Amino acid sequence: MGTTALVTGASSGIGAELARLHAAKGGDLVLVARRESALNEVKSALENAYGIKATVIVADLAHPDSAEKIFTVTEAAGIQIDILINNAGFGGHGKFYKRDLAKDQAMMQVNMISLVNLTHLYLQGMVSRNSGKILHVASTAGFIPGPLQAVYYATKAFVVSFSQAIAQELSDTNVTSTVLCPGAVATGFVEAGDLDSIAAWDNAASPESVAKCGYKAMMKGDLVKFNEALLGFMLNWVVPFLPRKTVLKMSQQSMEKK
Ligand SMILES: NC(=O)c1ccc[n+]([C@@H]2O[C@H](COP(=O)([O-])OP(=O)(O)OC[C@H]3O[C@@H](n4cnc5c(N)ncnc54)[C@H](OP(=O)(O)O)[C@@H]3O)[C@@H](O)[C@H]2O)c1
Repeated sequence: MGTTALVTGASSGIGAELARLHAAKGGDLVLVARRESALNEVKSALENAYGIKATVIVADLAHPDSAEKIFTVTEAAGIQIDILINNAGFGGHGKFYKRDLAKDQAMMQVNMISLVNLTHLYLQGMVSRNSGKILHVASTAGFIPGPLQAVYYATKAFVVSFSQAIAQELSDTNVTSTVLCPGAVATGFVEAGDLDSIAAWDNAASPESVAKCGYKAMMKGDLVKFNEALLGFMLNWVVPFLPRKTVLKMSQQSMEKK
């Protein structure tokens, strides 16, 4: 394939599966996350299985200068990023006023600001080459306010909006921006965000199936992709016509612990 994809949050879950799909097509990788050992396991497994080259960059995207540092590493190594997959992210449960503000600030940095920074840094080269693909992993949470996960849902609404807006700006180029909007997925996200005992994850999709759906949509240059068609239908064609307070109550109930 000859293309290199940079995947954030490649140490587990959907990100590790997106990396695997790209490697299976013969593409090289830059794998980014905090857990070095997990990243190295993904690197070895994919290099051995597919004969590709994977470069590990250990970075905490909650740090304001992390995107710049990642960009400096890939530039210094002469690695051209053809595909940017902004997948890293986390949530967190509880009423906003009771939550540790520092955790929500870190969430905004990872889910939104580092995503914007990485996109700005790598998009310049893509546009000048008139070639490139960006996949943003948002969520169905991006379509409604989320009581008990107020900041998380708001970060994903930002990503849904941002991805579509830049997709339109890029419509006179061969560069595309796709936003993937999964429902519940069975990954480390549940533990990381203290989201255990919430019914929404009882029938969660597999990270393999979600990554496959997102990777295919990105390659086609789709604008918005839901992994579950019914969820997409509900959020686009039913929820907008319901009374606001009903939507908020339903949304809160869906995040209550059993
Ligand atoms: N699981 C779901 O139900 C669900 C539903 C909709 C959308 N999503 C979205 O899907 C994306 C991937 O999540 P997942 O479900 O695959 O969960 P996951 O298995 O917990 O993966 C999250 C990834 O993000 C990385 N990450 C978290 N904080 C980071 C930080 N400060 N710096 C760098 N990397 C960081 C983690 O790596 P390290 O811990 O090694 O840093 C990990 O690789 C997220 O954006 C999430 O919001 C998930």
